[in-house]
Amino acid sequence: MTRASENLGKKRDVAIVAVGSTKFGEHWDRSLAELATEAGFSAASEIGIAGKELELFIVGNMSGGMFMGQEHVAALVADFLGLQPTPALRVEAACASGSVALRQGYIAVASGIYDIVAVGGVEKMTDIPHGEAILTLAGAMDFEWEAYIGATFPGIYALITNRYMHEYGLTREQLAKVAVKNHYHGSLNPLAHFQNRITVEDVLKSPLVADPIRLYDCSPISDGAACVILAPLEKARKYTDNPIVISGCAQASSTLGLYDRKDLCTIDATVNAAKVAFEEARLKPTDVDLLEVHDAFTIGEVLALEDLGFCKKGEAAKLIDEEQTYLGGKLPVNMDGGLKAGGHPVGATGVKQIVEIVRQLRGEAGKRQVKDARVGLAHNVGGSGATAVVTILERER
Ligand code: COA
Repeated sequence: MTRASENLGKKRDVAIVAVGSTKFGEHWDRSLAELATEAGFSAASEIGIAGKELELFIVGNMSGGMFMGQEHVAALVADFLGLQPTPALRVEAACASGSVALRQGYIAVASGIYDIVAVGGVEKMTDIPHGEAILTLAGAMDFEWEAYIGATFPGIYALITNRYMHEYGLTREQLAKVAVKNHYHGSLNPLAHFQNRITVEDVLKSPLVADPIRLYDCSPISDGAACVILAPLEKARKYTDNPIVISGCAQASSTLGLYDRKDLCTIDATVNAAKVAFEEARLKPTDVDLLEVHDAFTIGEVLALEDLGFCKKGEAAKLIDEEQTYLGGKLPVNMDGGLKAGGHPVGATGVKQIVEIVRQLRGEAGKRQVKDARVGLAHNVGGSGATAVVTILERER
């Protein structure tokens, strides 16, 4: 687990000065490098920064090799962006690749070693047949003891869902409401993979994937890229009038295999990362105005609300039933549609969550704007919970 003292000992505060993202979805006509380039240029053009001003480029990417046959992804994207000789490095942590990349950029600036760092996330998942994509994703679990004997991520999350329903009495309808809400938010986001609204009945009638998980409980296989530019807070106003501060960013690990978890209904990496992030930010859950959480499957949002400390174990369903997690509710969650409707190009997701929160805190989120948002929290998970990153962002205090 990240030690709070490690984070609290940082030399300076870090701000996000620019953001950019592609639409998430099926980009048959675009390559991985083209998507990453679009996101990179979109962030750079917000503040008119030239490539030569970037001192370090970090990109989150889960599996360019298996999805595309493309390794050396950081050098490729840096080449397309014309960044030479800026050092470029890739970070891999399965579906948390983007947020672990962000955390590495944060450490690079907070330590005083680098000033201007660009952090991207990119994945191109739709160029291979579905079965191969599922197998590639399965590389994020314990391959020998889970994937090799046929487990898939919908299957793994189905085990978690069944256990949670058994322990806490969550109903199928309550779970469906998570997808309905996230599709509603996705309908307000022109960059979301799915922008159609659905009903509880649609979810319950959608094809069964891994009992009790249905099609509309799952995030899709998506393509997309996102990018943010970091700077020390003390220099941020040189680039923007609206810097967004990273007030806490923590990462924790847990067992790779679900079979080793003490409790299937808790992602302890989330609990541990949240504890440190809140401590570092000197904030508490009641200070947070909006959340982006890892709803790769609908149960993921239920676990996140509890593990992040927004309610007690077993009580997330109440927040969902009361529609408190909707735009206009007390605790809006996944304003861009989350992974469910927003899309989940795995290496890009963690960075896209940050892009959404920055847009919300700047007041630039259009129809899905959360009123007077000052503090946002992003939660990104790798695998079934072996990696979790929690990042807290704030408007300048
Ligand atoms: N939600 C809603 N609709 C979806 C969807 C999703 N997650 N995935 C696909 N669809 C839609 C497609 O748009 C398509 O609609 P259309 O017929 O109107 O064009 C239809 O369902 C069939 O699409 P297809 O791509 O053939 O779906 P599929 O059956 O091959 O795959 C899943 C569906 C759910 C199995 C797949 O999206 C999946 O594996 N998701 C999980 C990804 C994952 O594990 N990520 C890592 C998490 S840790």
